[in-house]
Amino acid sequence: TREHKLAGKKVIVTAGPTRERIDPVRFLTNFSSGKMGYAMAGAAAEMGAETILISGPVSLPVPSGVTRILVESAEDMLQAVEAHYDSSDYVIKTAAVADYRPKTVADRKMKKQEGGSTIVLERTVDILQQLGENKKNQVLIGFAAETNDVGQYAKDKLERKNADYIIANDVTEAQAGFESDTNRVTVYGKNGFEQAFDMMSKQQLARQLLDLITEKEKLHDS
Ligand code: PMT
Repeated sequence: TREHKLAGKKVIVTAGPTRERIDPVRFLTNFSSGKMGYAMAGAAAEMGAETILISGPVSLPVPSGVTRILVESAEDMLQAVEAHYDSSDYVIKTAAVADYRPKTVADRKMKKQEGGSTIVLERTVDILQQLGENKKNQVLIGFAAETNDVGQYAKDKLERKNADYIIANDVTEAQAGFESDTNRVTVYGKNGFEQAFDMMSKQQLARQLLDLITEKEKLHDS
């Protein structure tokens, strides 16, 4: 039964946005609500996994059976993920991690001045890529939020980040991607594997995604 498919396994899920501080009262972020990641964590726990949810700032309740670690920035998320990585079996990176952060963080609130202003940004660490480079036996699952050429970018990410699966959503589609209660995705895997899912609630989709992946990995193991 689906209840036991992940019994004895440790699953890390990341969810939500990150916040990259500009000054004590301002930050850069994105529209991730955490709904997709929280649904993934809830589904993993239902299937019997020890589930660690590493979450950026969102306002969602912790799903039943899930241990949540709250983080703020991409750097905090990296630290939290790394602390659990070696002991994990599946890592699911649903979080929308900032690719850039302000190069310096002002320690006082920045004041208005005449004319424009410029914030200099620097790259954050790509957590998924880092995990891909240090992969042992973990099954590494990334998400990809794209506005165009979804399949091509998803396949690129699979290769470049050494992931086992990329779950791609076209975030321009109504009722899919950021903030909505529903999503529509295509899963890409090794050896050209590709499977499209219908539009459905993020909870239903999370269960179906984990059913698919655990089935494929079972075949893999035997
Ligand atoms: O939270 P919701 O409102 O429910 O929205 C869900 C979602 C749209 C955020 C989710 O379904 C989704 O697509 N998450 C990934 C969003 C994203 O940041 O995609 P990306 O293409 O920029 O990144 C690709 C992968 O690399 C992701 O697994 C991401 O977690 C990871 N990444 C990216 C940048 C970075 N610095 N470190 C990372 O690990």
